[in-house]
Amino acid sequence: MKKLLAIETSCDETSVALLTGDSGEVKVEALQVSSQIDKHRPFGGVVPELATRQHLLHLDPMVRSTLSEVGWSLNDLDAVAATRGPGLNSSLLIGFSFANAIAVSADTVFYGINHLEGHLYSPFIEQGQLPEFPQVALIVSGGHTQLIHAESAGSYRRLGTTLDDAAGEAFDKIAKMLGLPYPGGPEVDKRAALGNVKAWDFPRSMLHSGDFNFSFSGLKTSARTALQKAPEVLKDEGKLNDFCASFQEAIVEVLVKKGMKAAHECGHTLLTVSGGVSCNKRLREAFAEASAKEGVRCLFSSPKFSTDNAAMIGAVAIDRLMGGAPSDLDVDVDPNLKLA
Ligand code: KG4
Ligand code: ZN
Repeated sequence: MKKLLAIETSCDETSVALLTGDSGEVKVEALQVSSQIDKHRPFGGVVPELATRQHLLHLDPMVRSTLSEVGWSLNDLDAVAATRGPGLNSSLLIGFSFANAIAVSADTVFYGINHLEGHLYSPFIEQGQLPEFPQVALIVSGGHTQLIHAESAGSYRRLGTTLDDAAGEAFDKIAKMLGLPYPGGPEVDKRAALGNVKAWDFPRSMLHSGDFNFSFSGLKTSARTALQKAPEVLKDEGKLNDFCASFQEAIVEVLVKKGMKAAHECGHTLLTVSGGVSCNKRLREAFAEASAKEGVRCLFSSPKFSTDNAAMIGAVAIDRLMGGAPSDLDVDVDPNLKLA
């Protein structure tokens, strides 16, 4: 059984995980996530400078306390991993340099992991498994909306991406217009459950584009125009809930239809959905309905592995370690790192 320490600091969550792994298996022995949401909320979004300071403040005590939680020392580690990108440059640098230094001092291999690959691995962590392939992966987060055809570990082809805003970004921006706190996704999710999806007819951009790309900026503009014409929405709880339900439905419908279409076209019966937006209850419900109808298995993880966390970074690194991949000690962070 190999032992690994993983660190994730690509944006505004500081996360540390300890994992053990064997061939095809992975177990999360400890996971800590320090959320910075309260620090960024007054600014309505992530402030990179603040994020960097918080990572610096929390990382060392979190590594020490996870190690003591499971009774390991640095000498027990077989590998150390950290997120290499994509993400905020200064945030990435903190976790990456910290992990790199631990790897050197503990004389272990080091892996720089693609954050998006971490999301792709996340739906399998709870079952203690490394991913099944082939699959189609829909990664929906605050920074990304991508459909990936994953043939095998490390062999990925991008089917489509967003041409403007990511789905999570659309949730956050529209929520901000509505005066809801950051991050908007979970707030809209809660309100939408009480609202009427048919109250507003928002555009389903690129639903019939014939490709697997997405666009959410038209929805944002449409929501802004609707609000200008109906400012009472901001003062009426019921209307606010209807507004949330309606625009959430527009995002959900496009994600589900394009996700299912991609699975069919690639000839696969497994579709994984990951990233922060995959926490969305209506999205899960809509995928479950489509999955039952269309014979495609849709796999999600629990919310703790859906939003940014170090366990998903560790799961990719365990796979590489078991496959005997060499150390990445000389690589650097890449804020624009691509998955495919
Ligand atoms: O994966 P993640 O934690 O960070 C990135 O890699 O971006 O995703 C964060 C995003 C935010 O935009 C947040 O609003 C969204 O995920 N999100 C949700 C929900 N929970 C988080 N969006 C819709 N419904 C939710 N329940
Ligand atoms: Zn993420």
